[in-house]
Amino acid sequence: MSNWTDVASEAELFEGAGIAITPEGHDIAIFKLEDGVYAIDNVCSHGNAKLCDGFMDGHLVECPFHQAMFDVRDGSVTCGPATEPVKSWPVKIENGRVFLQLID
Ligand code: FES
Repeated sequence: MSNWTDVASEAELFEGAGIAITPEGHDIAIFKLEDGVYAIDNVCSHGNAKLCDGFMDGHLVECPFHQAMFDVRDGSVTCGPATEPVKSWPVKIENGRVFLQLID
């Protein structure tokens, strides 16, 4: 598979926190954790909150509005009030750059 898009420098990421990126018009949050880098849609499935601003607890990010929890590895909801997952995006790191596969 190809179509990898260079979206950020790995040096811009801090472990345990998210940053927002908008490659090709997608609003995406990327998170660096101990075991890798993960990308999910940045807008919460419950409302207009940005998950890049959420508090991290392990692989979970907490929505800053109503505290729903999403697993950054696959976008699944682990705690409401959100009920719908957010999209997760394939990530790879190469030569200090973060690449996403922006396939819908
Ligand atoms: Fe995220 Fe309500 S907007 S839980």
